Amino acid sequence: MVIFMMRKLKVGIVGAGNIATNAHLPAYAELTDIVEVVAIADIVLEYAKDAAEKFSIPHYYASVEELLAGEPDIDYIDICTWTAAHAPVAIAAAKAGKNILCEKPLAASLEQGLAIEAAVKEAGVQFMLAVVTRYGAEQQKFIEMRDAGRFGDIYYAKCSYVRRRGTPGGWFTDKAYAGGGAVLDIGVHAIDRTWYLMGRPTPVSVSAETSYRIGNYQTKGVDRWQPIGGPTGVFNTEDSASIFFRFEDGKSMTAEIAWAINGCESATTTLYGSKAGCTFEPLTVYGENEDGYLSDEVPEIEHSNFFTEEIRHFVDCLNNGRTPISPIDDAVTIQRMLDAIYVSAQRHEEIKL
Ligand SMILES: NC(=O)c1ccc[n+]([C@@H]2O[C@H](COP(=O)([O-])OP(=O)(O)OC[C@H]3O[C@@H](n4cnc5c(N)ncnc54)[C@H](O)[C@@H]3O)[C@@H](O)[C@H]2O)c1
Repeated sequence: MVIFMMRKLKVGIVGAGNIATNAHLPAYAELTDIVEVVAIADIVLEYAKDAAEKFSIPHYYASVEELLAGEPDIDYIDICTWTAAHAPVAIAAAKAGKNILCEKPLAASLEQGLAIEAAVKEAGVQFMLAVVTRYGAEQQKFIEMRDAGRFGDIYYAKCSYVRRRGTPGGWFTDKAYAGGGAVLDIGVHAIDRTWYLMGRPTPVSVSAETSYRIGNYQTKGVDRWQPIGGPTGVFNTEDSASIFFRFEDGKSMTAEIAWAINGCESATTTLYGSKAGCTFEPLTVYGENEDGYLSDEVPEIEHSNFFTEEIRHFVDCLNNGRTPISPIDDAVTIQRMLDAIYVSAQRHEEIKL
């Protein structure tokens, strides 16, 4: 029997913007017994310095290269840059032999995603995509029930991430920095989580349309996610998409994604199995009870912070030599599915995968 030691790990964060300072660093502050943030880097040194001061991080740098040179003992790099920088930063980290936690989406293009995969596999380092909605307590409870056979064969799913007016500002609408619009930014959450919960069926084809019809709205009284870095004023991405995926064995999934649309807001995953189905928030199971009547069951679940659970999981995987639940292979499959959405929408036809 192999017994692994729990060691306190050292992490260097790259990208000191919104997600780093509002989500990852507060999560690390709850995990000081298992992981220590030893450095942070940003191409705008001032952002790295501000974050270092605010979160008592000992060192700050102006690039991933400087960080890797200055901190040879770190266990992993946590990538919180804008999307187009994920690939160069991940490749530099892999070449230095460092494990990688990377914010969603994997990359700005399939080509960049494949380059990350090649670098990670060549270096033999661990990689985990930070697709945070896989890490909620409800998702974990669902998986427990699914693996015990409660749902039977899950053959169809529906998901949505629809905002009425919720387009982020700054670089998010600029293809050169983001790679795409609502699909890559929030579609990835809904599609990744739902595909994962279905049991990762092999994708066969994608049919989709994307739209840019509301664009740079001037609606008053609505909130927007404002990134810290990058340019503003360019909007050359889609603002919504409707998607149909076919999987092996006749399984399928629909997805509705919007940063801005004239309809009702929703962020849902619905799964349909041969024995039972379910919705989330709260996890509600639609099946039949022992007496043969229809039943709606809401299991009791203890909730926790998704970001904290996500980082705790990665640290645990590194310490115990386990593969994360969102590994590079899943990240590449999802990136292929997202890429095919754009190709399908451009050609107005179904794309085989
Ligand atoms: N999980 C979630 O729910 C969630 C939410 C928002 C954003 N994100 C993801 O987090 C990432 C960052 O988004 P954000 O909102 O924090 O953006 P942001 O602009 O606020 O922060 C990005 C930071 O990265 C820095 N940067 C860019 N290239 C760099 C490089 N090569 N080296 C070092 N620093 C670099 C920028 O200067 C900027 O400060 C994106 O990939 C985004 O998709 C995830």
